Amino acid sequence: MSYTVTKLADFSTAALDCAVRELLSALETEAESIRDWEQWKRFRDRWVARKNGILTQVRESWLKSAPTESKADVGQLFNRIKAQVEDKVDEIRQSTMSWEEERESGRPEESSAQSYSRASDAIRAIHLAKHVDVTLPGIRRPLGAEHPVIKTMNEIVGVFRNLGYSVEEGPEIETDYYNFEALNFPPNHPARDTQDTLFIAGQESKPQRDRLLLRTHTSPVQIRSMEKMRPPLRVVCPGKVHRNDAPDATHSPIFHQIEGLAVDTNITFCDLKGTLDHAMKALFGSSVKTRFYPSFFPFTEPSADVQISCIFCGGTGTRDGSPCRNCKASGWIELLGCGMVDPNVYGFVDYDPAKVAGFAFGMGVERIAILKYGVDDIQLFFNGDVRFLEQFA
Ligand code: PHE
Repeated sequence: MSYTVTKLADFSTAALDCAVRELLSALETEAESIRDWEQWKRFRDRWVARKNGILTQVRESWLKSAPTESKADVGQLFNRIKAQVEDKVDEIRQSTMSWEEERESGRPEESSAQSYSRASDAIRAIHLAKHVDVTLPGIRRPLGAEHPVIKTMNEIVGVFRNLGYSVEEGPEIETDYYNFEALNFPPNHPARDTQDTLFIAGQESKPQRDRLLLRTHTSPVQIRSMEKMRPPLRVVCPGKVHRNDAPDATHSPIFHQIEGLAVDTNITFCDLKGTLDHAMKALFGSSVKTRFYPSFFPFTEPSADVQISCIFCGGTGTRDGSPCRNCKASGWIELLGCGMVDPNVYGFVDYDPAKVAGFAFGMGVERIAILKYGVDDIQLFFNGDVRFLEQFA
């Protein structure tokens, strides 16, 4: 569609800018398509003809009708446009002329198609040089943002830091001792089957406790922390963990956990309940309720699974008249594991089980992110699709 000068109703800088940009881009586009003298003449008349050229129209409909307070600005703008249009007309005249001259003088060794393409290459080069405006701001590269998993992890860590917990980290490649044995999973104990992982090859010559594997949970950091520090101790340990699980909407062979551990002289199950109830309310809102359900972990006794009241149906089990799919109509969602540290574990780190007591808990970060953000497939976190990720930026 060819460009026409429109009347301006709005003389704000933004509106003027936009109108000028439109005009100049039309100028460029039209100039680009010029291939011969006739076309150039039409171009010249259309833009600079005194009687009804585009410049004249701009003067009439922008400059003359500008309100008094914008007159000076529009006047300056008009002069700039005028200079640019005249320059362009002149520039195209020169390149068209040299091309026409070349054609007239005749170059027997060059076919007309060749000379045409040479000339239009030259014109294009001039256009290009004009297009590259070194005074324009550079291209901004997107800055990137925190990944939703890391964001959730930081948020959870923040909740516990506010309670006075410090942050500890441990290696992702662990020994059998830290990942299993010191956590009261004896060799060949069936509880090991619940956390199948990848084992580093070529370790057979080492004693079993020194063999390396990818950690299946962040609980080994409990042991490492207790080896390093004496009670009282309150730590959270965020990190990446691995399991031999086939990927699907709710499983991933790599995911993240946050472990918590508090050991002191008089810690009870009430402290555990209060702490996790507070944390769940901080993460999901104050109306969320928690429920502790008996469970088993080798390194805690008693152990519990923590469930929160379903944040989708408000714990009622029904949503819009039909059973809530998120909690399978139960009104509860299972979220994390916890328990009182098993006295056997203290034996491995040289704490006196008669004197100290403590609790531990561990939660999956993706699981929490899925609930918080209403994501329906854990794989989305790992596919690296920016259309998904930028929603969290
Ligand atoms: N490590 C356990 C798991 O990955 C979770 C847990 C941590 C349970 C701490 C109790 C205490 O399943």
